[in-house]
Amino acid sequence: FAEKYLHNQHWVITAGPTREAIDPVRYISNHSSGKMGYAIAHAALRAGAQVTLVSGPVNIAAPVGCRLIQVTSAEQMHQQVLANVKQATTFVACAAVADYRVANIADEKIKKDNEQMQISLIKNPDIVADVAKLANKPFTVGFAAETQNVEHYARGKLMRKNLDLIAANDVAIAGQGFNSDDNALTLYSTIDKIDIPLANKQIVAKQLVSLINQYYLAKNNK
Ligand code: PMT
Repeated sequence: FAEKYLHNQHWVITAGPTREAIDPVRYISNHSSGKMGYAIAHAALRAGAQVTLVSGPVNIAAPVGCRLIQVTSAEQMHQQVLANVKQATTFVACAAVADYRVANIADEKIKKDNEQMQISLIKNPDIVADVAKLANKPFTVGFAAETQNVEHYARGKLMRKNLDLIAANDVAIAGQGFNSDDNALTLYSTIDKIDIPLANKQIVAKQLVSLINQYYLAKNNK
């Protein structure tokens, strides 16, 4: 990182899970620890970028020097990203955003009076897809967490969400993906793919940040 090759760039990065309230004491969420997104924020900072990190609830410290915006729900993350991404050169969506939220959040703790209960869910806004719809969209990088048909689903998300790149991880393999210290990624553009082999998330992030910048420079003829 001797070279501050991102010195004139502003990266907005999402990380961690979101929590979707059921009632005042319960929520729906997932196993994201924030480690991957925070490692990307760290690597981008070390390379000289200005970094805004929009994070769901996690138990790790934000890298020194980033602007940390803490959120809980997908709707809050959506609002904060759209409020902060307009000046960004690059947007990286590493957060594991809940696809659905509870339709009617109970005001009081739900009592266990019945043998069965149903919770009705409604779709959350798609943050990375909405960023990619902006007129002046930043270079937009999504993630794909898949348990099967990784390339097929990742390429589908790349096209459908109109992304510049997508970083896919196979989250069915033990020792990588959600909550582990290590990860392996495959980075897809519309025309090619590059493997980032299994390593500590800090090392994976350093390679990913450098690759994103290479595609960014190519797209912007720099
Ligand atoms: O946090 P860690 O424990 O380190 O784990 C890292 C990770 C596995 C969470 C990370 O590497 C990862 O894969 N993040 C994306 C997880 C995910 O939700 O993937 P997805 O395939 O469901 O979503 C596709 C893309 O759309 C993602 O960029 C996601 O951020 C984005 N999305 C999804 C739904 C939504 N409502 N808004 C979004 O922006």
